[in-house]
Amino acid sequence: MRLTDELRKSLRVRVDYTNMTDKYLGDKGFSAKKLDYYKAAAKRAHAYVAENRGKDELFMGWTELPYNQDAIVADILETAKKIRKKFENFVVLGIGGSALGPSMMFTALCHLHYNDLPKSKRKGPRFFVEDNVDPVRMKELLDIIDVTKTCFNVISKSGATSETMTQYLIISDLLQKAGADVKEHVVFTTDASRGNLVKISKELGGVKSYVLPDGVGGRFSELCPVGLLPAAVLGIDIKLLLKGAAYMDKICKSADFRKNPALLCATLQYAAMNDGKNIGVLMPYSDNLRYVSDWYAQLWAESLGKNETLSGTPCNVGQTPVKALGVTDQHSQVQLYTEGPYDKVVTFLSVESYKEKSPIPHGCEDIPDVSFLGGHTMEELIRAENKATAYALTKAGRLNYTIVLPEVNEFTMGQLLFLFELQTAYAGAMFNINTFNQPGVEAGKKATFALLGKPGYDEKKKELDQADSDPAYVV
Ligand code: PA5
Repeated sequence: MRLTDELRKSLRVRVDYTNMTDKYLGDKGFSAKKLDYYKAAAKRAHAYVAENRGKDELFMGWTELPYNQDAIVADILETAKKIRKKFENFVVLGIGGSALGPSMMFTALCHLHYNDLPKSKRKGPRFFVEDNVDPVRMKELLDIIDVTKTCFNVISKSGATSETMTQYLIISDLLQKAGADVKEHVVFTTDASRGNLVKISKELGGVKSYVLPDGVGGRFSELCPVGLLPAAVLGIDIKLLLKGAAYMDKICKSADFRKNPALLCATLQYAAMNDGKNIGVLMPYSDNLRYVSDWYAQLWAESLGKNETLSGTPCNVGQTPVKALGVTDQHSQVQLYTEGPYDKVVTFLSVESYKEKSPIPHGCEDIPDVSFLGGHTMEELIRAENKATAYALTKAGRLNYTIVLPEVNEFTMGQLLFLFELQTAYAGAMFNINTFNQPGVEAGKKATFALLGKPGYDEKKKELDQADSDPAYVV
């Protein structure tokens, strides 16, 4: 795709917050005066992000990823080409930030039944993201892939995450038993110098490795080799993805939240949270976008769910992300959104032009309940249902806004991803919390180490043994 200024503009991702305003929601909506109250907080958040962008020590290196990876992108494209030629399967082994981004891009930008397409149509290996350590899932993956024809991308910053390293142990054992050279079947994405994968690479005699940069945390890593290599293997245009991110970055330069879409979303959500809206529903009207909700859930929850401010004042902030899919969840959750407690903000992800239209043929002419559908397209139907749901929520006085993607492609996905990352950074700055750490996740990791007997965790093990469930309370 050759990006002219005109094309850029026509593919610009937009935020429509009509249905957050008192003009449409009455006293349940935000008045201009109320939003103006947050102007100063938004401005401060914007200044914080602008001043600290790129700083590794603050884990804000992700802001520069659209600009500083020319050599890495060239290397990734080269490696991806070889992988596409040589392997039948490409398996991502990783969890959290290492898995959700690759899954999101795979679903958004590839055929929805990619793995079931004939090889001639795929033009690349089958693709799997194995994040969970459900033993059944592992076994059943191994039932359908031949490890000797598979490339495993092991993604872990620490190389100490139990889930990922368990998977690595299993596949390296299987590869060795099959007489394969492990280092020819793995690519590591990890820390530049620290961490166990660096050690393992040396032991294996030099594994092809990519760096997960110092200032980039897991959930902000999709635009570094964590996401770029899997995407390139799938034939996704990673340069266009980065251009989309850079474009959104440019759009978000203003300190006025009414002119900066990411700052606008952060301000709307922050204002809503201050009003007790502790649930944020993300509802894409597109199967291609369904895993955006999973990726966003981690970004939003792990970044904002904190119990102290940067100055050490106790707080318990954050908003619970809920994943929904339009239209599917109109027939399950929307009843609650429309009539249940006023505790939510619904964000729709709407697509203006789907890559397929799927015309609906005429038929059943004597049944008006059915015949009216004929002559339309499925695109018209899904767009109508999206509009109808937003209307119904608005009528019921429920806060909702829409992020509009003119199309789903690399350029718009890059924009969307960067919009959410900036939104999260701004919202964290408004709360004055550390947006980029995850002590709550670390606590669970350490408890798992203790339970499985990792040296140095004896005290923790004792503590956990005492925390066993009390039979008096087991029914
Ligand atoms: O966002 C994060 O930092 C986490 O979700 C990590 O990505 C996840 O815990 C995996 O960690 P690691 O990359 O060290 O294996």
